[in-house]
Amino acid sequence: MTETLDVIKSRYSCRRYADRPVDPQVLRQIAEAAVMAPSAVNRQFWRIIVITDPALLLEMNDVGMVKLKDCDPAGYERIMSRGGRFFYDAPAVVFIAAQPSKDSFPTELDTGIVASHIVLAAASLGVNSCITAMSGALFREPDGDAWEKRLGFPEGYHFGLGILLGYEGETPRAPHTPDFDKISMITG
Ligand SMILES: Cc1cc2nc3c(=O)[nH]c(=O)nc-3n(C[C@H](O)[C@H](O)[C@H](O)COP(=O)(O)O)c2cc1C
Repeated sequence: MTETLDVIKSRYSCRRYADRPVDPQVLRQIAEAAVMAPSAVNRQFWRIIVITDPALLLEMNDVGMVKLKDCDPAGYERIMSRGGRFFYDAPAVVFIAAQPSKDSFPTELDTGIVASHIVLAAASLGVNSCITAMSGALFREPDGDAWEKRLGFPEGYHFGLGILLGYEGETPRAPHTPDFDKISMITG
């Protein structure tokens, strides 16, 4: 088995993080893997914003939890049942900001591929991760635009996905059980 397949098999969504920062050079490597992702007609309608500022993460935690409770009560309850922390206390958060496409290729597809690059690059460097759509709650009204500006989203770019990065704060979990019955091979 190649190292890449080992990494794919070992990656799982980590929802509790140790109080241990990720080296900035490691974060840089992960961010570089993100922008190496393929995209439809190579348009690269994305920005990768890596945040490690503890005060800012705490502020986003507090605002995010209030907004999540309002816009996604089920998601809020899920987070509460997992410790009540918007980013599960991850020491690094990556936001993928994306520009909505005006053609037939949805930008969301490109965003998902970037997210995949990020989590697999992270796993290959021994860094745990969790993709979070719920962290998009931070960018909801009344001040979602202000958050986009403050975090440096270019004009016309909006939240695509959040990725939490850090080191496992409890015994590593297994990833979901893959359902190999979902695979068909048409061999002719
Ligand atoms: C697009 C996307 C959005 C996700 N959003 C969240 C989220 O908001 N919060 C969360 O805890 N996990 C989130 N996840 C993680 C999934 O719940 C997780 O990948 C799935 O349960 C399989 O578990 P595994 O990653 O451990 O194999 C998301 C995953 C994807 C691909």
